[in-house]
Amino acid sequence: VKITRPDASRIDDVKPLWLALYAHHSSIADWPVRTPEESWEKRRRVYADVVDEGGILLFAEEDDGTVVGLALAEQEDGGSPTWSYPKDFVAIIDLIVLPEHRGKGVGEQLMAEVEEEARRRGVAALDLMVVNTNDVAIRFYERLGFRTDLRTMRKPL
Ligand SMILES: CC(C)(COP(=O)(O)OP(=O)(O)OC[C@H]1O[C@@H](n2cnc3c(N)ncnc32)[C@H](O)[C@@H]1OP(=O)(O)O)[C@@H](O)C(=O)NCCC(=O)NCCS
Repeated sequence: VKITRPDASRIDDVKPLWLALYAHHSSIADWPVRTPEESWEKRRRVYADVVDEGGILLFAEEDDGTVVGLALAEQEDGGSPTWSYPKDFVAIIDLIVLPEHRGKGVGEQLMAEVEEEARRRGVAALDLMVVNTNDVAIRFYERLGFRTDLRTMRKPL
């Protein structure tokens, strides 16, 4: 596959990948889910906004233009009142590879390109959030050098 930087006109190519992440998310935690259509409608707006605001959208494409993986990321300023680190960072919002294309290094290729773009921008870190039960993804990110620092906790009411 080759990694490309699509423009906003290709956002609807994201839908099958988003629905694959939606299915994956539904399977790793038993929280109530939205309908697939409602889920995509919400997420489509995020993709459009991030691209509009100069974010990073990458596709992993086959020669015929089929999109088998994607990464969406945006640049943010560090907001901690205590720590001046990281001054700024690139936050990975979504990383998705279609199920039948996983385990072949596509995710790693996408992450390498996100990291290269983050280095080009001169930011101090790469950040991401991952569901605590997403073991494959956590192991994958740890292999790429990510470590847990902040931890989100929740008490259902
Ligand atoms: C996480 C993800 C993007 C990794 O992409 P990938 O292209 O499979 O990445 P790689 O080929 O480098 O392999 C990732 C790991 O999956 C394992 N793997 C192998 N075959 C696999 C398969 N058929 N299905 C899933 N994972 C497989 C690999 O062994 C590898 O393990 P390691 O990191 O411990 O070495 C991909 O699994 C995915 O899309 N998952 C669902 C969406 C998701 O959870 N995204 C992250 C949300 S924060």
